[in-house]
Amino acid sequence: MTPEGPPLVVAITGASGAPYAIGLLRTLLGLGRSVHLTISPSAVEVMRAEIGRAPSLDAFDPAHLLGDVDASRLVYHDHRDFSAGIASGSFLTGGMVVVPCSMSTLGSIAHGITTNLVTRAADVHLKERRKLILVPRETPLNLVHLENMAQVTRAGAVVLPASPAWYHRPKGLDDMVAFVVGRICDQLGVPNHLIPRWGEGEGA
Ligand SMILES: Cc1cc2nc3c(=O)[nH]c(=O)nc-3n(C[C@H](O)[C@H](O)[C@H](O)COP(=O)(O)O)c2cc1C
Repeated sequence: MTPEGPPLVVAITGASGAPYAIGLLRTLLGLGRSVHLTISPSAVEVMRAEIGRAPSLDAFDPAHLLGDVDASRLVYHDHRDFSAGIASGSFLTGGMVVVPCSMSTLGSIAHGITTNLVTRAADVHLKERRKLILVPRETPLNLVHLENMAQVTRAGAVVLPASPAWYHRPKGLDDMVAFVVGRICDQLGVPNHLIPRWGEGEGA
């Protein structure tokens, strides 16, 4: 455990929205938090389409994904590695985020299907009653998506759609990513000043 808090788990799956995952990782590592990361094979395909580069799952290089951020506190786990610490409830964490969370992964989590490290670690967070934040990106939503979201919410997860707001008048994509990353950090209990907060300064 670092002095800044227990390690956090981040999983990237094959929904659109890789910049949210990269923004979250850069923020957490920049704050000195330890992060355990796992990535699904579909996430690699989507990243290649979205940002023109993608990590190698077999020879993972944090710099390739995260640029100049200090990645010394990043621990990468292959998605097939069920012997990783995060696959067990005895490994203490401060919570887990699946960002972006595909509807496929969300459906698996909703039904306790744990065929890779992403879904196993998420299942562990639910059984240990720890914070699990799922950041889906799909539109429109069918009844299966909606019922799976209701099911994971009943099981204790927080469904936090990748839906940046407009009331803070974003100047560009970075501001929109920061909004979603800030809301994820709020849910994790990670103090941040990524976005101006509504009502901030009132009563000052
Ligand atoms: C370019 C591209 C974009 C995709 N966007 C989404 C998306 O926004 N939401 C989603 O749920 N699935 C999306 N998919 C489909 C998922 O990648 C697919 O369902 C995959 O099986 C998910 O696997 P995973 O959950 O193991 O990552 C996309 C696929 C591709 C190739």
